[in-house]
Amino acid sequence: MRAIVINGCCSADQLQVSDIPVPQVKPGWVLVKIHAAGMNHSEAILRTMEADNDYINTPIVPGIECVGEIADASDSRYTVGDRVIALMGGMGRSFNGSYAEYALLPTKNVFKVDTRLDWLQLAAVPETYFTAYGSLSECLLLQDGDVLLVRGATSTVGQAAIQLGKAMGATVIAAARRESSFEGLMAIGADHCVLDDGCISDQTLPVRPNKLLELIGPRTLRDSLLTVSRPGYVCDTGVLGNVFTIPQFDPIKYIPNGVFLTGFFSNFPTQTVIDRLFELIERNAITPLYKHVFSLNEIVEAHTLLEKGGAGGKIILKIL
Ligand SMILES: NC(=O)c1ccc[n+]([C@@H]2O[C@H](COP(=O)([O-])OP(=O)(O)OC[C@H]3O[C@@H](n4cnc5c(N)ncnc54)[C@H](OP(=O)(O)O)[C@@H]3O)[C@@H](O)[C@H]2O)c1
Repeated sequence: MRAIVINGCCSADQLQVSDIPVPQVKPGWVLVKIHAAGMNHSEAILRTMEADNDYINTPIVPGIECVGEIADASDSRYTVGDRVIALMGGMGRSFNGSYAEYALLPTKNVFKVDTRLDWLQLAAVPETYFTAYGSLSECLLLQDGDVLLVRGATSTVGQAAIQLGKAMGATVIAAARRESSFEGLMAIGADHCVLDDGCISDQTLPVRPNKLLELIGPRTLRDSLLTVSRPGYVCDTGVLGNVFTIPQFDPIKYIPNGVFLTGFFSNFPTQTVIDRLFELIERNAITPLYKHVFSLNEIVEAHTLLEKGGAGGKIILKIL
């Protein structure tokens, strides 16, 4: 089968298509014929910084998510031809991932989906929409009538959160660092847009949020905690600000009274949550967003864009 394999850290222009054997099935794992794979910034980090570490099982096929069909159901409950999505659980890091025509994946990370979406729309969903949905539902407990502020709204997860937040009945405020983004954010469903200069809590907002999805991360987290009404909820999901931890964290002084701070980690998807996500997508006729599509042959261009950042939306590798 055709696949992208990396042996260690390398530059984007060193990536090339290789021929490797189709993996053999084993108990607890299923073989997926991949139609398309969403790309993630973590795959650029893997290639540029992480691949030489012992905990990365090189040589490895990168890619932490994919969509496709069951090619060999092994000992699972699936049937050949079932349409599935797969994500996380060590994919593309501990075992071969999705930059390939086939992937052997742990059954627990493969989820059957019933959907009207085409393969490219479906490929936009797994990691991005699961992260947005998990943050809103499991962490922020988003309800009809809530006011949700999405900080880092132009990111792929941010755009998904706007669509899903609206579908869940919230009023959505999109916070972005450039006014030129506002029109596009309103077009995908935001009710209001605010300029994020790092200090939103000082601004008079069109309406006060009681729920806030933090995608910039610790760089703006304290300001986000001061932005929500009380009681209010803040979910820390992203690190777009490139600050990963809170130095000398003193929870008593850092978290205001009556504000609930939570975090989301996408490593533990379940069929129940995936089913709820697709039910929401289908019921509200949500069209998952993607921006660029590349073939395996165009992996150099795809990874160059991924590494540069600022693609403005999901990048998808079309495999079949
Ligand atoms: N917790 C989890 O399990 C989990 C899972 C998936 C993703 N994530 C995280 O969620 C975040 C979003 O991921 P993504 O894939 O959606 O990102 P992405 O699509 O690559 O987002 C990049 C965009 O974010 C905006 N941005 C970047 N830095 C910013 C800043 N300092 N302030 C405001 N906007 C900024 C930029 O848009 P403009 O240039 O238009 O401003 C940029 O084009 C990332 O930090 C990612 O690591 C977490």
